[in-house]
Amino acid sequence: MISFKTKTENTELDAYKLLSFDKISSTQDLAHDLIARGEATNKTVIMALAQSAGRGRYRRTWVSHHGNLYVSFIYRIGERDPKLSYAVAVAIAETLISFGITPQIKWPNDVLIDGKKISGVLIEYSQNFVIVGIGINIKTCPTVKEYKTTKINNYKDVDIQDVLNVLMKKIDKWRGANFSIVRERWMNLAAGLNKTIQYHGKEAELMGLNEDGALVLREGSRYILTYGDEISI
Ligand code: BTN
Repeated sequence: MISFKTKTENTELDAYKLLSFDKISSTQDLAHDLIARGEATNKTVIMALAQSAGRGRYRRTWVSHHGNLYVSFIYRIGERDPKLSYAVAVAIAETLISFGITPQIKWPNDVLIDGKKISGVLIEYSQNFVIVGIGINIKTCPTVKEYKTTKINNYKDVDIQDVLNVLMKKIDKWRGANFSIVRERWMNLAAGLNKTIQYHGKEAELMGLNEDGALVLREGSRYILTYGDEISI
């Protein structure tokens, strides 16, 4: 542990307990450890300025150089909510908008600027908690084989703590919102909506989200509902 401080952020809702680090292996892994040790509380937030073993979706490495925001939110839950991922994507997009940047969401929860990935979300569960891991490129953008990347500082100078403060408020707001509102906002922000995208190597039209949170695609006259596959835009 290189540096450690705890502080409480007051929001309109419950207070967050913030643990912040200069460098850590992975905020996500620390969240799992806290839960396993019985030390996690609802709305514990772990943030770091760098990670030595950052993890992404599909077992990918999340390259975590110094100067970006790496954060894991721990929430106590009653049951799993597959729609949470959309609320989180909207919260990240709205955080960027509040700094004057125009993002889009790539299904399910990547956030892009000018078609390049600026933020990713990894949602994991442990016991009766959900861990929402978010990486936002601020000062550096790693080179990744699978997609292009960008960073906030290509558009605006921002303070990492300010980004985190806005993000906490936006996540509170969108986690608490009715799914019909989240869905509408998500579709508003979606990259490739009503356009042709690639799905399993074939072309399909991206129609949006249905009321259950499935992604709706159209291949000719056939509608496809998917919850877990990757698409290319
Ligand atoms: C993705 O693959 O798009 C998701 C990336 C999630 C990265 C974040 S950074 C903070 C948290 N800690 C990790 O090790 N991963 C997540």
